[in-house]
Amino acid sequence: MISKISPKDEVLAKARKRFDKDILDYINECMQKDHPKSFLIAVLHRVQEKYGYLSKDNLQAVAYLMDIPAAKVSGVASFYHLFHLKPKGKVVISICMGTACFVKGAEKVAKKFKEELGIELGQTTTDNQFTLTSTRCLGMCAMAPVVKIGEDIHAKVTSDAVPSLLEKYSKAAK
Ligand code: FES
Repeated sequence: MISKISPKDEVLAKARKRFDKDILDYINECMQKDHPKSFLIAVLHRVQEKYGYLSKDNLQAVAYLMDIPAAKVSGVASFYHLFHLKPKGKVVISICMGTACFVKGAEKVAKKFKEELGIELGQTTTDNQFTLTSTRCLGMCAMAPVVKIGEDIHAKVTSDAVPSLLEKYSKAAK
């Protein structure tokens, strides 16, 4: 007798194909716990860590595998600014918007970055060189305003310093 594959099984098989074994194992592990759906954010973190960002297809696959409505998964992914829904640029610029940095002019610095790059916070330049984001306190308030570029921390950043920082890092991104 030929066993029929149900449409649900087909969708699940397709969703499984999107991920590597370590991600599937982690999702399975979460699904064995008491409140599996409460692990959604943890799963999204793992997926982003592995693939760099959360693509539409991967969000959909997480929704199927965790049996959570796709709209809810997308809603959670777009609510938290730590999640990236598009591929990141070669260099990620994170402007600290914590209280100390904000008071010391982080907003002015962010405005200059936005002007120079022609993008808003959370966006990536069309040449894929830079992604501009904001972040919470980086724990270096005495050096406010702080900007993290790639793995480097820049202290007491002024808006006047932005063009030269971008020049330095655009060479690195090439
Ligand atoms: S508020 Fe920016 S480092 Fe603390």
